[in-house]
Amino acid sequence: MKRMLSGIKPTGQLHLGSYLGALKHFVDYQDEYEMYAFIANLHCITVPQDPATLQKNLKDCVALYLACGLDPKKATIFLQTDVKAHAQLGYIMCCHTYMGELSRMTQFKDKQAKGEKNLSGGLYTYPSLMAADILLYDPDYVPVGDDQKQHVELTRDLAIRMNHRYGDLFKVPEPLIGKVGARIMSLNDPSKKMSKSDNNDKGCVYLLDDLKKARKKIMGAVTDNFANVHYDPENQPGIANLMQIMSSLEDNRPFGEIEEQFKGKGYGDFKRAVADDVCHTLETIQNRYNEVISSDLLEKTLSEGAARANAIANAKLDKVQRAIGIEIIDK
Ligand code: TYM
Repeated sequence: MKRMLSGIKPTGQLHLGSYLGALKHFVDYQDEYEMYAFIANLHCITVPQDPATLQKNLKDCVALYLACGLDPKKATIFLQTDVKAHAQLGYIMCCHTYMGELSRMTQFKDKQAKGEKNLSGGLYTYPSLMAADILLYDPDYVPVGDDQKQHVELTRDLAIRMNHRYGDLFKVPEPLIGKVGARIMSLNDPSKKMSKSDNNDKGCVYLLDDLKKARKKIMGAVTDNFANVHYDPENQPGIANLMQIMSSLEDNRPFGEIEEQFKGKGYGDFKRAVADDVCHTLETIQNRYNEVISSDLLEKTLSEGAARANAIANAKLDKVQRAIGIEIIDK
């Protein structure tokens, strides 16, 4: 069975983009692949966090993994900090990443370009830790949204570099990016990605949003004056984004079919149908979330997940440390 690994960084509440670009795929793939899904809590603190809010977001993230359909009997679900090898291999990877490579990563560059002050060293070296997260488990594939492709490509470069220098240490993983839903855009500015750090709440549908509020956000989505439901991301980015959402929620329904259904109809009808799809999905997730959050399933899932993940990660860390010469082998 091929192996897959991915993670989400709960710096805020999970939203429709995190679901359609990543979490939904984790669930779809868990039957076919050996799935490792972790919560990237170390990555959260690369930007300042309020500790109480962070704890709530962490717990919600685990609960949402389960509520969205990840099954702890099939997938290994764990917290990054429960497997200490992530931080340790992260440091080792950092020592094998060039500053030029880190400086080219768009996430850091974007924040710098916006003039954000006091960016942390952790934010700069974050892609090295992400490479460690992945390489510890030798996955074949890393299912991610479009914005993480560059990080997985750097991970591949680092794996190849270290294999070349020290012998066969890591499997070189491939990013797996969905055909639809890989880049869900903000509802009130379809030129920007839907994001947890968006300070405008109207652009982002959170998985735990009240259904009325979610519907209002979809109905208020920015569109255009063409009055034609047609897939044209360049000239009709708002409509294209809503079509992406609808298609992903309806098993990758072809855009042509959606166009056909709404031929001659107004944007109001189309938005209502998208809102129905979104609210139906949210309702199912939220019902399950309410069951999970008050049960002992979270604790059980994380402790079993940590045990399975530690067994693999510690063996890999040991192998790497021996290969690079930082362990005394004949003690
Ligand atoms: P994060 O937490 O920003 O996002 C989690 C996953 O959701 C995808 N995503 C989106 N997909 C479509 N449209 C959107 N608007 C959207 N927003 C987010 C992301 O592409 C991602 O797949 N660095 C990672 C977390 C991480 C990780 C890893 C992932 C840490 N270590 C190892 C994979 C493997 C991140 O910040 O994702």
